[in-house]
Amino acid sequence: MTKPGQIIGRSPSRVDARQKVTGDTRFLPDLDHADVLHAAPVYARVSHARLKGIDPTSVNTDPDFVGLFTAKDIPGDNQVGVIIEDQPLLVTDRIRYLGDTVGILVARSDEAAQRLADEILIEFEELTPVYSIDSSRAATTEFIHSNNIACEHFVDRGDIQAGFKAADHIIEVELSTPVQEHYYLEPQCCIVSPDGLGGVSVMGSLQCPYYVQKAVARNLNLAYSQVRVEQAPTGGAFGGKEDIPSELCAMAALAVFHLQQPVRMVYSRRDDMQLTSKRHPFQMKYRVGVSEEGTLLAADIRLEENAGAYATLSTVVSYRSTMQAMGPYVLPNVKVHSTSYYTNLPPNGAFRGFGSPQAAFGHERIMDHIAAALKMDPIELRLKNMLKVGSQTLTGQLLESSVGATETLTRARDASGWSGPAINGSDGRYRTGMGVASIHYGNCLGAAGWALDGSGAKLQLYRDGSVAVSFGLVEMGQGALTVVAQMAAEALGIRIEDIHVLPTDTHQVPDSGPSVASRNVMMTGNAIRDAARQLRAGIIDAAARLMNCEAESVELSQGIAHDKGSGKQTSLKEIADFLFLNNLNMESLGWWHVPELTYDAKKGVGEAYFTYSYATHIAAVQVDTITGRVRVQKIWAAHDVGRAINPAGLEAQVEGGTVQGIGWAVTEDLQYSGGEVMNDNLSTYLLPTAADVGEIETIIVEDPEPLGPWGAKGIGEPAIIPTAAAIANAVSNAIKRPVDHIPMHPEMILELLDNTEGGV
Ligand code: MOS
Repeated sequence: MTKPGQIIGRSPSRVDARQKVTGDTRFLPDLDHADVLHAAPVYARVSHARLKGIDPTSVNTDPDFVGLFTAKDIPGDNQVGVIIEDQPLLVTDRIRYLGDTVGILVARSDEAAQRLADEILIEFEELTPVYSIDSSRAATTEFIHSNNIACEHFVDRGDIQAGFKAADHIIEVELSTPVQEHYYLEPQCCIVSPDGLGGVSVMGSLQCPYYVQKAVARNLNLAYSQVRVEQAPTGGAFGGKEDIPSELCAMAALAVFHLQQPVRMVYSRRDDMQLTSKRHPFQMKYRVGVSEEGTLLAADIRLEENAGAYATLSTVVSYRSTMQAMGPYVLPNVKVHSTSYYTNLPPNGAFRGFGSPQAAFGHERIMDHIAAALKMDPIELRLKNMLKVGSQTLTGQLLESSVGATETLTRARDASGWSGPAINGSDGRYRTGMGVASIHYGNCLGAAGWALDGSGAKLQLYRDGSVAVSFGLVEMGQGALTVVAQMAAEALGIRIEDIHVLPTDTHQVPDSGPSVASRNVMMTGNAIRDAARQLRAGIIDAAARLMNCEAESVELSQGIAHDKGSGKQTSLKEIADFLFLNNLNMESLGWWHVPELTYDAKKGVGEAYFTYSYATHIAAVQVDTITGRVRVQKIWAAHDVGRAINPAGLEAQVEGGTVQGIGWAVTEDLQYSGGEVMNDNLSTYLLPTAADVGEIETIIVEDPEPLGPWGAKGIGEPAIIPTAAAIANAVSNAIKRPVDHIPMHPEMILELLDNTEGGV
């Protein structure tokens, strides 16, 4: 018989693998319905202006035209700001970026909707646009909102003056990181239908069904309970489907409200790239004091982010990058100041890591600058300062368990055959180098988002012994369905084959917060354990009655209950049928909330997150000094995940995140001209292909987290966070020039080789 523990830590096939591979999974853009109408956004196409009017006369005689809805047609609050309420669903007076949407056009076909939306005349009076952090900061009049600051965060701990005074070396660096497009498989899309009772039913490719529910209810003036949101199969989201689907779904719902017919809205890829959120570009200044022996003594860190036209998730990005600004190191005296500036670009928002890859680029580059100044091995410097059990983080949080940081570093070092900083001896055309980067990542929403940090899972036992699992977070490509099935099977003591995980539906599970911040395994796993504890008690009782024994002598494993006393057995099917026929409970709702955190928001001191994942990536690169091309040869990626629920799925997450990090660091390079995205398709926006990524070796470190389900911590975002920094350190090492700005496109590498004296 299978013992408990044989489902967790194994790698059963993905439960959705067959359908994804054969194409039987129908993503929403693949679906069409006979009676559905088609909608497209009518947007400004000017970056900053006063809206004067919208003239539909050019299109409203077209036989395919159905309707045009604008702000005045919204029955409820014209508002979709997810944290800060600064964003109307449809513009009433001020246009703040080129994709700011003024109306929704409904037509009889998708082609007609797009064509007619493009033809609508918008009258406006142009204002001066502001695109950069520097010009936004410099503005003294004509602010984009009531002022140009979307949000600010601080850490102020210890005494940095004293720390700098005691330091033998003070190192200063300025760095910057670029925008990044999510480029999920299918663009933003939804279908909204009337429910026949005055409410609406929403289906969409999305991460945060409860955000959509709230936005639709609010804009239509409906009760939350009249808005049902179901998740369609989702081919990647990466933060890009966190808040944006609220806009699409509320727009389509507005049309449904007036037309009482189903409405489908699928952004074209061009519109998706012009209109929707991206990774925040950062400008960073790091000033760090160290002793001669390499002990970090003080840091003064300034982070500035380009928020774009609306705040969206800027608060989360700014908070997280501030809390993690100096990485997984002990640092007694520290000041961090982070500001997000409004500009007339598309809003920047959530993107895998919420500002962590940007901060990691800052802290891991300066660690290498420090190592160079001290003539010290970068790994030795990191080991010397690394967080351990008993250390305090940057925010003064005492770490009591599950701190696998050092092990990620030593395991990556040993696997890579690291031989110190001076491995590059070549002066020929091709230069090789290695670089290291270590990070920590606060799991779940943290002190700033604590109120939303609870999630649920529901177990329903059917009469035939099968179990349906509903959960409030989502499968968006990361493999959640499989780990949820594993965790439910393990917690109940039944076979994974008897578990069916349902698509997420707001009418099944209470508001479980957003599917973000690498929180699915932690939240859903604990909620499943809670639900299973309740349901299992009834299953065991029923088994005892069927076998005529005491409940204490019943063991349930792999769906078979047996009586330790008599050796009798009964199956889950028999037990379920018994429960049904005796009118006994066959359902349970489990819940888990992150424990309370003690945190002072003014000083940024205290428990920023309840636990952290840790990781180290080591990159080996080759640089062609004639073409400037950077080739990533190999990345060793070591991750402390507490416990790997599904090692194969985990490895896939690490590989996916690493590839996305390579894209951000090397191949991708989003360009704007006048607030318009110039490279809005894959022929010019270069996602890395198999030819660009070299080899990736995943190293799983398991330092169990006591609060995690079976000891697990989050992996989704840690997978990307150290990658760009490790590559930049490796390229710096290869060409003996400091790479403090990314992406590392060939022109930039050639310029560094031409213009800079040797350095880090
Ligand atoms: Mo994310 S940036 O946690 O979707």
